[in-house]
Amino acid sequence: MIKTVSVIGAGTMGNGIAHVFAQQGFSVNLVDISQPQLDKALSTITKNLDRQLTKGSITEEIKAKTLSNITTMTSFAGLKESQLVVEAATENTELKLSIFRQIDEAAPEGCILASNTSSISITKIAAVTKRPELVIGMHFMNPVPVMKLVEVINGYATKKEVTDTVVELSKQLNKIPCVVNDYPGFIANRILMPMINEAIYSLYEGVADVTAIDTVMKLGMAHPMGPLQLADFIGLDVCYSILDVLHKGFGNPKYAPCPLLVNMVTAGKLGIKTGEGFYTYSAGSKELLVSDRFR
Ligand SMILES: NC(=O)c1ccc[n+]([C@@H]2O[C@H](COP(=O)([O-])OP(=O)(O)OC[C@H]3O[C@@H](n4cnc5c(N)ncnc54)[C@H](O)[C@@H]3O)[C@@H](O)[C@H]2O)c1
Repeated sequence: MIKTVSVIGAGTMGNGIAHVFAQQGFSVNLVDISQPQLDKALSTITKNLDRQLTKGSITEEIKAKTLSNITTMTSFAGLKESQLVVEAATENTELKLSIFRQIDEAAPEGCILASNTSSISITKIAAVTKRPELVIGMHFMNPVPVMKLVEVINGYATKKEVTDTVVELSKQLNKIPCVVNDYPGFIANRILMPMINEAIYSLYEGVADVTAIDTVMKLGMAHPMGPLQLADFIGLDVCYSILDVLHKGFGNPKYAPCPLLVNMVTAGKLGIKTGEGFYTYSAGSKELLVSDRFR
């Protein structure tokens, strides 16, 4: 029976994961090395709960209960009461391996250790623990309270009972789990990133402009957002590093990042987070303006 969940990392994904578990009545320890990041996470969760309240999808009681189910901390001490740990710290292989070594020591026997990684091998993460059969991928999508999918990733050693537990748990969070195996990019990014890369190649080769590429995919394929806008949203550095994982992992040149993407990352044009990518973003404005570079 899973009652207490520890979430490691209180950034974009960690605060959302803590929110959805706490809203379903789980007791949540939200852990980060940075106290300001924990404070910011709590304020984001409160804002998101207020939005749900305004829309009428939750009551004041649920908001209060959700917040009271979350305890923030800057150490792994709270892990000893957990039946599940979901790691959502910065996407860096060495950091994740070090965190998994530590949480393997801190978490009780039988506790499932999940990672929200977008691209790092679950098998590799599991191999640094003494419980590889209890290690699994639980890949939530951004923004977590809104997006329905959980990509559940079986590492090479993951036990079937662990997969079944995580699938049931995802359903309890009102999410739709899809089980996949641990190969580079899993399913979500293996299919998404080559599409984004191809959109960037189409721009690079002058096949069409930014607006045309995104409009074709929005109106023609019913995508809610065009691939170039989505790349800006995800972060061009993140797209680059996932393509690199696919390229190296499969040794297939079809995954090589487009030279234009490489240039943009090198120039620090990373999308929304830097204010410019394929589009430009100014604080407070919702208007989508194609970057001067591509006009
Ligand atoms: N952002 C997305 O759209 C998205 C989507 C799916 C999956 N992911 C994955 O989720 C994970 C987190 O991504 P994010 O976008 O939330 O990152 P983020 O940078 O917003 O947050 C990462 C957090 O981890 C904390 N952290 C770093 N080292 C730590 C440690 N040793 N112990 C505890 N906390 C630590 C940082 O202080 C920070 O608050 C990554 O693995 C990423 O690949 C991200």
